Amino acid sequence: MAKRELDDVTGTETTGHEWDGIRELDTPMPRWWLWTYAACVIFAVGYVIAYPAIPLIHGATPGLLGYTSRGALQQEVADARLAQAAQLESIKSLSLEDIRKDPKLLQFAVAGGKAAFSLNCIQCHGSGAAGGKGYPNLNDDDWLWGGTLDQIHTTLQHGIRYTSDSDTRQSLMPSFGADGILKPEQIDDAAEYVLKISGQKNDDAAALRGAEVFKDNCAACHGDTGQGNREFGAPRLTDAISLYVTDKASIVAQIKRPRQGVMPAWGARLDEATIKQLTIFVHELGGGEMPAQ
Ligand code: HEC
Ligand code: HEC
Repeated sequence: MAKRELDDVTGTETTGHEWDGIRELDTPMPRWWLWTYAACVIFAVGYVIAYPAIPLIHGATPGLLGYTSRGALQQEVADARLAQAAQLESIKSLSLEDIRKDPKLLQFAVAGGKAAFSLNCIQCHGSGAAGGKGYPNLNDDDWLWGGTLDQIHTTLQHGIRYTSDSDTRQSLMPSFGADGILKPEQIDDAAEYVLKISGQKNDDAAALRGAEVFKDNCAACHGDTGQGNREFGAPRLTDAISLYVTDKASIVAQIKRPRQGVMPAWGARLDEATIKQLTIFVHELGGGEMPAQ
């Protein structure tokens, strides 16, 4: 045993260790540290009594409070369901306009619509809703059938050319080539005219003849100047946004035998609250319109 003695300078006991005449002080723990330590011990004992703690063969000591993390999770899920149920109830009973006016409900509807979109729509419209060939971009303000809340709702509820829904959006561009309504030269001329009004390179003489063909056969749906008509889901032909066509060959193909895209009616598959949330989500994507006053 090394000899313990008092250090003259500090008055503190030494540990008795000594190297070359240098001795180590045995400074006691600070008070605050000891108290903290004691508090921790007391807390730990209390915790072990109150909460499940000591592992046994089957499970663990239950603790006086009866707490389980599984039970806490169940409670949280139940609370969240309850909160959601109230908001879903409001969405069901309020008009689309009124949902949009309530910032909290709007946020809830957009989030719910986004989730439903990922489940039901991205396979055709793309995860960013930007569409692709034959599937319209839903982010822009170029609408085939209309961009107000009510119009989008109708589109979703009843689908497009979805024959098993009697209220589906309907209109079929005739197969001018396949059904022999126009001669190949007329189709070629009409295609040149479509190139002209969409600002692309075209044969002037052919486009002039095509204007006549267009007036007689196409204007009823696409409008006198090719501005489109939402009544018939007929696209505007004067811009660069297109569903199917990019060049002359694809325009000719569309006039010969149109694609007549189909979108399912969602009314039969999704509940009303989900369709309303989808409507609001699509409306909020950027191209949403207000009804004309
Ligand atoms: C099977 C493919 C398919 C699925 C799935 C689909 N769509 Fe469509 N959607 C289409 C097609 C095709 C059109 C364009 C039809 C046409 O030529 O008018 C369209 C058009 C639309 C339009 C009209 C756009 C406009 O410019 O007026 C909206 C809005 C729309 N879809 C939303 C949705 C939503 C929301 C979902 C999911 C609930 C969905 N779609 C799922 C194929 C689909
Ligand atoms: C009964 C209405 C109707 C008539 C008539 C009609 N169209 Fe269409 N057209 C549509 C619809 C609806 C579409 C959307 C695509 C589809 O359904 O195939 C379309 C699409 C097109 C497209 C493709 C647009 C795009 O965005 O990709 C072109 C080009 C076109 N029509 C040209 C014509 C020409 C030229 C004529 C006359 C020879 C004509 N259409 C007559 C309804 C009509």
